[in-house]
Amino acid sequence: MDRYAVVGHPIAHSKSPLIHRAFARQTGQAMSYEALLAPLDGFAATVRAFGENQGRGMNVTVPFKLEAHDLATELTERARAAGAVNTLVFRPKGVLGDNTDGAGLVRDITKNLGYALNGRRVLLLGAGGAARGTILPLLGERPAGLVIANRTVARAESLAEQFSQAAGAIPLAASSFAGLAGQTFDVIINATAASLANEAPPLPPGLYAPGALAYDMMYGKGDTPFLAAARQEGAAKLADGLGMLVEQAAESFWLWRGVRPQTGPVLEALRAGRTP
Ligand code: ATR
Repeated sequence: MDRYAVVGHPIAHSKSPLIHRAFARQTGQAMSYEALLAPLDGFAATVRAFGENQGRGMNVTVPFKLEAHDLATELTERARAAGAVNTLVFRPKGVLGDNTDGAGLVRDITKNLGYALNGRRVLLLGAGGAARGTILPLLGERPAGLVIANRTVARAESLAEQFSQAAGAIPLAASSFAGLAGQTFDVIINATAASLANEAPPLPPGLYAPGALAYDMMYGKGDTPFLAAARQEGAAKLADGLGMLVEQAAESFWLWRGVRPQTGPVLEALRAGRTP
C-alpha cells in the first residue's frame, strides 16, 4: 500500500490525516496516511526513512517547511517563489518539493467563498513565510493591486521588490500598518502570526470597502482577533483558514494521485465538528 504522512513538531493536533483519509475513501484510492512526529534535529532522517519504506509523499508543517525546501532535489516554481515546501513527492530519482498553501488560499476564496480576486484591491498582512507563499498565486488572479503591509516595513518592502517582476503590470506596494490610512480594499488577508499572541494587527480604521472580504489564514473556535476586529469595522464577509487547510490538502492529493477530491463535504464535516 502506498504510504503518505504529514510530518511536523508538534503534530498530534494535525487535521491532515482525517482530511486525506476522507479524500482516499471518497476517491477509492488505496493508500494510508499517518502523522509523523520528527525530532527538531531529525527532519531529514525522518523523511529519508519514510521514503525508504513505501513512502510516496509527505505534507510538511511547522517548523520544517524551510528545511523541506532545502531537502527537495527539484522544486516547482511556486515552491521556489514561496521559499518553503509543504508537499513532498518521492520519485525514483530524488524528491520533488511543492507548495500548495497559496493555491489552497486562492481556491478557497474564489471557489468556496465565490469571491473573484480578479480586478480587486487586495491587502496582504504579514511578510513572513505564510505571507510569502501566497503572493505568486494571488498575483496569478490578476487583482487590481496588491499591497503587502507588515509590522516591520523593511520585510514587506523586500517581498514587494522580490515579486516586482512577477507582478508585471499589477501594482505591488509595501506599507506599514499606519501607512494604510485613507486607502480601501476589497479583500484583506491576515497572514501574520498575531493571532498566536491573541492579537489583531493594529490597522487604521476604514480599510474595508463596501462588500469587502476579511480572510484570516488562521482558524479556531469562533472569530480570531483579526476577524473580530474586521466584524467591528463592518467587513461584509468573514472567513477563517479552515477552507484553505482543506484546499491545500486537496491540491497535494491531486499532485500525488492525479485525482481531485471533492472538498465541500470534508470542509462541511470539519466545520460541524464531525469526523470527515
Ligand atoms: P510565518 O511562517 O507564520 O509567516 P514568521 O515568518 O515568523 O512566521 O512571520 C510572522 C509574521 O507575523 C511576520 O509578518 C510578523 O511581523 P514582523 O515581520 O514585524 O515580525 C507578524 N507578526 C507576528 N506577531 C505579530 C503581532 N503581534 N502583530 C502584528 N504582526 C505580527
